[in-house]
Amino acid sequence: MLKGRSLIEPDNFSLEETESLFTLAEKIESDESYLRDSCRGKLLATLFFEPSTRTRLSFEAAILRLGGSCLGFADPGSSSAVKGESLADTVRMAASYADAIVMRSPKEGAALLASRYSLVPVLNAGDGGHHHPTQTLTDLFTIRRLRGEIKNLTVGFCGDLKFGRTVHSLAKALARYTNIRVIFISPEELVIPEYIASILQRQGIEFSETRNLEEAMPELDVLYMTRVQKERFFNEEDYIRLKDSFVLNTEKMAIGKDNLVVLHPLPRVNEIAVEVDADPRAAYFKQARYGMYARMALLAAILGVV
Ligand code: CP
Repeated sequence: MLKGRSLIEPDNFSLEETESLFTLAEKIESDESYLRDSCRGKLLATLFFEPSTRTRLSFEAAILRLGGSCLGFADPGSSSAVKGESLADTVRMAASYADAIVMRSPKEGAALLASRYSLVPVLNAGDGGHHHPTQTLTDLFTIRRLRGEIKNLTVGFCGDLKFGRTVHSLAKALARYTNIRVIFISPEELVIPEYIASILQRQGIEFSETRNLEEAMPELDVLYMTRVQKERFFNEEDYIRLKDSFVLNTEKMAIGKDNLVVLHPLPRVNEIAVEVDADPRAAYFKQARYGMYARMALLAAILGVV
């Protein structure tokens, strides 16, 4: 039962609970009238202390498609945070107006703290360079839809693996599935954090690291490209030096498997050439749409309407 539960880290729900969300998301996708109006009278608060396009809009689309409503802010400059209000007090307020809270913050641990002060479920929409568990639901649901199942896969993560919270969450989540092999592709300065590598080790997941995308490319079933996270760098010089470390283009796609799935949480900057968009293996725009169905399923479950 997911009713009333928060989602702060990608493994807060069991594998069975996660699978039940995907089954529900598939039902919603195949019959858009299913669960329509099921959340009538329910209110979702969206508190975004950092910019967002997909996560905020897909949550808003999700609650509206379920017949509920939303309120909140996309710019913390328009909230009382600028007057010095603490996160704990802001969350207490939102919880007294809404039935669930979606929150994004530049601070690691902010969503966990919010969940301790909230009387309603809190969904972590990204906490700094830490985790982004609803993006992980999106990513796993996309893999399931496009590959049929989430097992027996070699998954390459490419780009900013140090600051990329979507990478941390997806790698941690994949460690629970059967026969997953991971290849981390990054510059030396942006390698996967030790705590994520340790989780994979403990779970017995085979993984390796490389600085060379071309070398990894022929082995991959899923390639997860990521943007170098400019906003987490301490100096612009380092960002400029590293931002174009890996650019996926048609030459590199040519050495990938025929059934490769290319994912990207988006936004993309320069790391996937626009020419790749026409390749049927480029799944990142589909992925963003699957995210809305996954979030509809999540909201319906935590609000207790299914
Ligand atoms: N994938 C993702 O989190 O996108 P936004 O930053 O646009 O929400």
